[in-house]
Amino acid sequence: MNNRQLKEKVVLAYSGGLDTSVCIKWLQDEMGLDVIAMLGNVGQEHDGLEEIAQKARMLGCVAVEVVDMTEEFVSEYIVRAIAANAMYENKYPLLSALSRPLISKHLVETAHKHGATCVAHGCTGKGNDQVRFETSITALDPSLKVIAPVREWDLGMRPDEIAYAKMHGVPVSQSIEKPYSIDDNLWGRAIEAGVLEDPWTEPPADIWTITVDPLDAPDTPTYVEIGFAEGVPASLDGEELPLSELIAKLNSIAGSCGYGRIDMIENRYVGLKSRECYEVPAGLALIQAHKALEDLCLERDVLHHKLALEQLWADQVYNGRWFSPFKQALDAFMAATQHGMTGTVRLKLYKGGCVVVGRKSAYALYDPALATYEDDKALDQKAAKGFIDIQGLPIKTWAMREAARAKGGASTSPTFDVLDGASAEHPLARAVNC
Ligand code: ARG
Repeated sequence: MNNRQLKEKVVLAYSGGLDTSVCIKWLQDEMGLDVIAMLGNVGQEHDGLEEIAQKARMLGCVAVEVVDMTEEFVSEYIVRAIAANAMYENKYPLLSALSRPLISKHLVETAHKHGATCVAHGCTGKGNDQVRFETSITALDPSLKVIAPVREWDLGMRPDEIAYAKMHGVPVSQSIEKPYSIDDNLWGRAIEAGVLEDPWTEPPADIWTITVDPLDAPDTPTYVEIGFAEGVPASLDGEELPLSELIAKLNSIAGSCGYGRIDMIENRYVGLKSRECYEVPAGLALIQAHKALEDLCLERDVLHHKLALEQLWADQVYNGRWFSPFKQALDAFMAATQHGMTGTVRLKLYKGGCVVVGRKSAYALYDPALATYEDDKALDQKAAKGFIDIQGLPIKTWAMREAARAKGGASTSPTFDVLDGASAEHPLARAVNC
């Protein structure tokens, strides 16, 4: 009987790098599995997908699937991230966090196509990406087994891994000592590790590849106009473009103005803090413009509550819960808010900065007639007094009682002057303080 028929199959998310190349051999030799390599294109810089596919075949993969996910990444993931103004910890536009559920979805589909029982990824046990892959895969097919070779093998140190690679015929390129860990896609680049692990060290110039040093950016400002249709960026300087092209073009415009760099300390879901650098010129500019349009067009209560839900959306996605029912419910809320988010925002880019300098929309709720200081016909200013009296009634009532108590007239209980901030006199305050 053919031995091959007895082997179970695993689909591996393959990048062509050393880690995932060693994963192929490890899955074959240590786990006795047939390996199917899946290469996802999410708009990252790469040396050629065909070459990477060739490498996977050379390493003995029984099948190689190259999947172009870029358009799906844009229409299903980035569009939702823009609607939610997605920023983890108010800083990080979630670029890696957005790609993982999409790659997971295709891993599961590839597993089904090939009758594989297992799925594997090359993440370490210290990062968020392992959580995102595994939670997404479980959500899409709980019967699939997930294998994380890098977390399990005893090749912790790079030299051990290189030795294993050489022993098993995995090509080790000269440039293997990459000083950083980099993840990138159409939405931007994430750079971590190496000298960046010291949070006091300024990021070296060589980590940045899509943004210029602001000092070298043009000496005159660059203006761009972003047109939105129902919350989705649809045009750049009046030219209608598919969103993937718009993002690529804006990455180059804003990046050449030195805009889009982030250097932050971030709280990973796995519990540790890490120092992360990102380049996200188009992402940051589009979210800024989208917020400006919402400021103009969203009804106040929706806007205010949306701000809170945006944080929850970002947390869900950061924590690997793209396919969770809560995240999907939040998506429904976000989608409901985007009706009428149609209009144009003008951005001014200058030496690393980006500011909104204009916004317009046929759906604007901003009404110059109401807002103007010059003409008071649109709003009866005298009516404001009644509004203030009534909305302030609870505070007035409270203040009157407190004033009476301060004089000792209204109560026999011990007085404590809330207005003075002297609430430490209250028994509860004492209990907290001790
Ligand atoms: N810290 C970011 C996140 O968790 C980026 C991770 C990027 N991965 C990498 N291998 N550099 O989303």
